[in-house]
Amino acid sequence: MQISVISGSPKGEKSVTFQYVRFLEQAFPDHTFTVVHAGREIRAIEEREEVWRGLLATVEGCEGVLWATPVYVMLVPAQLKRFIELVGERNAAEAFSGKYAACLTTSIRFFDHTAHAYLHGVCDDLGMLYTGFCSAHMEDLRNEAFQEQFILFFSDFLEAIIEQRPVQRVFPPLPAASACRVLKTSPAAVDTRGRRVVILHDAEPGSGQEAMVRHLAACYAGPVQVAHVRDAGMKGGCLGCCRCAFENTCIYDDGFRAFWNEYVVPADILVMAGTVRDRFFSAAWKQFFDRSFSNGHVPAFEGKQIAYLVEGPLGHLPNLREVLTGLATMEGANLAGIVTDESDRIDAVLHTLAERSVRLSERGYIAPATFPAVAGHKIFRDEIWGGMRAIFKADDRYYRQHGLYDFPTRDYPKRIVTRATSLAMSIPAFRRDVVEKMPAYMVRPLEKAIETSTVLAKRRAK
Ligand SMILES: Cc1cc2nc3c(=O)[nH]c(=O)nc-3n(C[C@H](O)[C@H](O)[C@H](O)COP(=O)(O)O)c2cc1C
Repeated sequence: MQISVISGSPKGEKSVTFQYVRFLEQAFPDHTFTVVHAGREIRAIEEREEVWRGLLATVEGCEGVLWATPVYVMLVPAQLKRFIELVGERNAAEAFSGKYAACLTTSIRFFDHTAHAYLHGVCDDLGMLYTGFCSAHMEDLRNEAFQEQFILFFSDFLEAIIEQRPVQRVFPPLPAASACRVLKTSPAAVDTRGRRVVILHDAEPGSGQEAMVRHLAACYAGPVQVAHVRDAGMKGGCLGCCRCAFENTCIYDDGFRAFWNEYVVPADILVMAGTVRDRFFSAAWKQFFDRSFSNGHVPAFEGKQIAYLVEGPLGHLPNLREVLTGLATMEGANLAGIVTDESDRIDAVLHTLAERSVRLSERGYIAPATFPAVAGHKIFRDEIWGGMRAIFKADDRYYRQHGLYDFPTRDYPKRIVTRATSLAMSIPAFRRDVVEKMPAYMVRPLEKAIETSTVLAKRRAK
């Protein structure tokens, strides 16, 4: 069979993901693999008609499509995102429609599920028959048990094609874009009380996004900096070279770092505005997020209030909401709010967002992390300490200085208490007592925290 591989890594054959494709080629010699290096060749694909036509012919002539891509910032690389946008812009969905599809990613399995949900949604939108995915850790191929499973994954894909298995669509089509609403001027503008407000956007002139940005900026009485991400003057997308790892310095000599330092670093309140293109923000925004990888795994938004303005059907895109939320919370910020143009009271909610963002910023509120940020921290901590720190020197320094290597194994008093309790539990009477009084034992330290709280004492004294 003819299998078309759409490769998302900007590194092409020299990428980690491509080694997994090579493994499949050798494991399945009876099938022909033709590779479209969408990630590496995105410029040529965008600019040269014959390259575009050639790759469409490859897809049209195949029996199955394997999307093979690294996970970059919770999704696919900006270059592959752009490729998917081009398929939409150039009405080329027909070449993909009716083809069986499977997805392969490599990553450290941090927000790999959102990349897969995105690709699955894209396959559904293109009318492809999505059969499943394999999310490999970037080092999994070294493990023969993985190799066996990997072969099973791909065999299942091939069998689906041979058997012409029926496939059910999972992600419903998105509603058509709604007309841009006219926004009324809001009541009294919010005093920013010295807080620095920055709005970054990628709005087209006359778009709903532009109207939301303008309206939100007018909700603040103090100065608001508004900038288009295009003004970062990026020469290209992240190349995945990881040369930034040593000192968090990117090899590109362009405007990205200066833009980041001018707008992102000093912002107390950072609003990012985007328009839904397929099932995510634009490739331009994705490029901006990917390029921020040169900050390493240092929480780049620490202490900030983050908000988003979304033009498009976010209510139908829980995966996009998860990524936007994850970007804020993983980076140590508080998510002050997300406003979309789906709201009937958009003027009012924008005003509330302005008010709330200033209030929360002034008070220094950062909501406690939930599962994705807690889990994400542990993945980074273990990966950096467990090997990446040999190269990611800047991360290692930051993790040491900020106590982020917070393995429970270092908590010696707790380890002693745990060991002692564990030994005592082998005494039947003690064990019976603990089991009977379990709820009491669980709340006792919390009751003590309430009794001895200096925070509560200060509030009572007010
Ligand atoms: C810009 C950039 C962003 C990344 N973002 C993620 C991520 O969000 N989650 C993750 O698990 N790994 C992430 N990684 C790690 C890559 O997914 C991993 O190294 C992958 O195997 C690289 O594949 P490639 O060599 O085919 O490009 C990122 C790497 C880069 C360079």
